[in-house]
Amino acid sequence: MGHQNPKESPADDSIRSTLSKGSVDMEEGPQFISLRPKRLDEYIGQTKVVETLKIAIEAALKRKEPLDHILFHAPPGLGKTTLAHIIAEEMGVKINVTSGPALEKGGDLLGILTHLEKGDILFIDEIHRLPRVVEEFLYPAMEDFAVDFIFDKGIHARSHRYRLEQFVLIGATTRAGSLSPPLRERFGIFRTLDFYSEEDLARIADRSAVLLDVKIDDDGAGEIACRSRGTPRIVNRLLKRVRDFAQVRGDGVVHKATVQAALKLEGIDEKGLTVLDRKFLKTIIEFYKGGPVGIEAIAATLQEESDTLVDVVEPYLLKIGFLTRTSSGRKVSEEAYRHFDLPIQQGLFK
Ligand code: ADE
Repeated sequence: MGHQNPKESPADDSIRSTLSKGSVDMEEGPQFISLRPKRLDEYIGQTKVVETLKIAIEAALKRKEPLDHILFHAPPGLGKTTLAHIIAEEMGVKINVTSGPALEKGGDLLGILTHLEKGDILFIDEIHRLPRVVEEFLYPAMEDFAVDFIFDKGIHARSHRYRLEQFVLIGATTRAGSLSPPLRERFGIFRTLDFYSEEDLARIADRSAVLLDVKIDDDGAGEIACRSRGTPRIVNRLLKRVRDFAQVRGDGVVHKATVQAALKLEGIDEKGLTVLDRKFLKTIIEFYKGGPVGIEAIAATLQEESDTLVDVVEPYLLKIGFLTRTSSGRKVSEEAYRHFDLPIQQGLFK
């Protein structure tokens, strides 16, 4: 095999030096290594979103004002949480992290809001899953930096207005369509993150390989990139499995063949499809003649949550054109049949 030289460049030192500042304490031995970029300049991909954020952050810092509220929409693993942490770092403020399902009552949110200092970030993941009562609580908090809390019921009811510090809400959602319009409209910045290109994913694999102290060649990084479903989180997950494989069964370097052998064990195919992706497509093909079929029927056949299928499985299959969504349900495309080398009934795609 003609492998290129594994990567080791001056840039590696600068990546490592960022790491040594925070994440590894040599006295205490190896620790958890964060692969997440800490600053916008380290962030690979999503160039338009990054540019928007750089401008908004620089302007807010110049004016010594907090940022506008920000909403990120994307499938899981594309960087919503990472960006929220980076924004906090760039603004020099604290970040308080919670999620829609964790906030059950108005009081849960009140406790958090009243402890925020000026400029602090409140990050709410899965914001589309906020209970209605909590969401309504959030409107005046976002708009007027105040909350109205009602004590007692009926004729004894008393309302008290709490003043809040001017905080920044960053919301993250996999379902922009499930957010109520009044909530959506209260965000000054609303950005959708796209699946990453293979070039960007390969660069992320190279960067993470430096942090994980494993050598990788160009073909190795490219092979991880094209099997990562457009998703940095998957790049990093696969890289760790491939690193294990390279160190135990290989020469310690991540080559294309190492990736192929390691990912065969993980059940990940050449397109990056997982066992669940393939079960999803094959269910539609084998039980529903390729569709159209409703998501609840597929979920029942697969015995999976329909939310998992809609949020995790479908977005990438739609993106690569293996699946289409029509008014009468989901349909598998001709390309998907070809990927599985399955016979196509006559007239199915005519
Ligand atoms: N690790 C995970 N996501 C990343 C990104 N977008 N840029 C750099 N490193 C990453």
